Amino acid sequence: MHALVVLFTIAACGGEETKPVEAAKPPEAPKAVEPAPPPPAPAPAAAAGPYTPDDLAKAAYEKAKAAGADSQENPKQGKPEAIAAGKTEYETKCVSCHGAKGDGMGIAGAALPQKPAQFAWKERWDATSIGVKHWTIMNGIQGTAMAPLGLTDDQAWDALAYLESEFQKQ
Ligand code: HEC
Repeated sequence: MHALVVLFTIAACGGEETKPVEAAKPPEAPKAVEPAPPPPAPAPAAAAGPYTPDDLAKAAYEKAKAAGADSQENPKQGKPEAIAAGKTEYETKCVSCHGAKGDGMGIAGAALPQKPAQFAWKERWDATSIGVKHWTIMNGIQGTAMAPLGLTDDQAWDALAYLESEFQKQ
């Protein structure tokens, strides 16, 4: 170990030579203005993640579970009339935050510190049950921009039928 340190010290010292002082360089001629680079390509739509639920959302999901939300199924799932009605709900009440592509990048959503849930991100979608999502729509997530928006039970199921068919198809 000691020998190594000594070796390094010698090696470090060996390179030290006094260099002649360089003459001051003449000022550089101004460069021609380069054309601005093209704007970067737009990010791919509905990029996966990473808007993970914050603590307030997690607390709401726990509350929903305690209320038995996990055992609920969507009675409207896959029904065309429900999906159509849910689309209207979504486009009037939700799209400003959750975005037309379900990526949380609606006009209002993009500006929020805690981004709205991304319905198009499978991992995020699967993280809560459909019953918990329904509870969230009905009750909101206290302390976040996700307020209860006055949907009826049925309308909330319609919205979820739409979300699932639109953003989780495959
Ligand atoms: C003002 C912005 C805003 C509006 C409008 C809004 N949301 Fe949200 N939503 C949020 C935010 C913020 C969260 C919480 C994100 C987090 O922390 O995960 C959220 C979370 C959710 C969740 C929970 C996600 C999950 O996977 O458990 C659902 C479901 C949801 N919103 C549905 C809706 C529906 C349906 C509408 C329209 C009726 C709507 N939201 C309108 C901002 C909004």
